[in-house]
Amino acid sequence: MQYITLDTETDFDGWRKAARALVLHQVKPADITWAVQGGEAELFAPPSPSRLPEAGNGTFNVSAKFVELAKAAILHRDGERFSILYRLLFRLKGNHDLIEVATDADVAQVTAMAKAVYRDEHKMHAFVRFREIGREREAHYVAWFEPEHHIVELAAPFFAKRFADMPWSILTPDLCAHWDGHALSFTSGVSKREAPGEDRLEETWRRYYASIFNPARLKVKAMQAEMPKKYWRNLPEASIIKPLIEDAERMTGAMIANAATDPHKPQKRPEAPMKRKSATDDLEALREEAAHCRACPLYKDATQTVFGEGPKSANIMLVGEQPGDKEDLAGHPFVGPAGQMLDRALAEAGVDRKKVYVTNAVKHFKFVPRGKIRLHQKPNTPEIKACRQWYEREVSVIQPDLIVAMGATAAQSVFGKITPIGKTRGRLIDLPDGHKALVTVHPSYLLRLPDPEAKVLEYQRFVEDLKIAASLQKKAARAA
Ligand code: URA
Repeated sequence: MQYITLDTETDFDGWRKAARALVLHQVKPADITWAVQGGEAELFAPPSPSRLPEAGNGTFNVSAKFVELAKAAILHRDGERFSILYRLLFRLKGNHDLIEVATDADVAQVTAMAKAVYRDEHKMHAFVRFREIGREREAHYVAWFEPEHHIVELAAPFFAKRFADMPWSILTPDLCAHWDGHALSFTSGVSKREAPGEDRLEETWRRYYASIFNPARLKVKAMQAEMPKKYWRNLPEASIIKPLIEDAERMTGAMIANAATDPHKPQKRPEAPMKRKSATDDLEALREEAAHCRACPLYKDATQTVFGEGPKSANIMLVGEQPGDKEDLAGHPFVGPAGQMLDRALAEAGVDRKKVYVTNAVKHFKFVPRGKIRLHQKPNTPEIKACRQWYEREVSVIQPDLIVAMGATAAQSVFGKITPIGKTRGRLIDLPDGHKALVTVHPSYLLRLPDPEAKVLEYQRFVEDLKIAASLQKKAARAA
């Protein structure tokens, strides 16, 4: 029996070095016991761990896919992960293509572990809330978080980029991450008692959360899935979630009553046909898959993937450019200033947003940090192309009667090539896949126009374009 002791729970390099030597010596998975220094399994190991056999001259290459999966899966909390990974590696030596066999039990298990780790990383990015200790020049920001897996080192660079100009610490029971404005460092885990309690930032968070909370789009189940209750206890906004939910119905009623022009009484759609039902299931699976998308580098700095939203039965699909700052934090498309402009224009055109599927060509926020502000950056062609798979898959499950491309980036994604807005705007165009498209401007273009007169005129043109979508929506409602 070989006893291998790794330095830490996340010692991928140590595992890789040992595993490589062991595979080259054909040591069977059942003949190895893996432990971590100071961990439980080490109690059962002999006083001095086995010496690794020399790696020798043998060669053994594994695919980049395996390395990526293994780097993530090793952060899983399952105590068996080192041996499961070794078993897969051992089998890969004889069958290099095994990694592509998704139904293989080892491949499936390692993939599921990696996914759980990415999900946990995503939750950490979204749910860490810093509290201020000290004031002004002495200010330091401290957060408490309880990760499910060993993800602190994986998740910390995100916070270093996002909060580059403030010194912070994230305390967890496993490991604490610290940023002094220049470098990241790590110390051992602490207990929750050491985390600071309420401070004046709490109120700011609560006000921010209340401002982005849109009662008309409230889906309690989806919200709980995105923000599982176990995270609530450490979130300042948790205390207002319940009252906001309770108030949502009243607020939605008031919003409908106060809409400037809403000739369109909400229609009750007929029961969803079978095709639509399976489409929803597919959309949920797509959303989950997209949450872990690494097809371009934008996921690294963004808080989360902002996937499309809207009912399964939508016959209009609106496509924007990419989530902005507010959308990135909230996880929903078009909830910030451009979203408010869009809501107003849709209502004026007679389009019921609740019946529309709203998405973006690019699903991660691209920005450059400028002090405390994140400045929006236009996505480039490789990023638009990398993200197009999600748009295509959304179209194929929603099957909309009309796709409205708002702005140049959306048009590039919808048409699959750079498409000038001026030449195509305001008329129905047949897409090669049989869908119909309409090109118009992006609502943030209207927000940016400096001349008030041009603003009014352009806004009216935008509403006119959206009226084409309104007439289609009404026709579909009559036919239903
Ligand atoms: N701009 C977009 O294109 N999409 C959003 O979701 C928000 C702003």
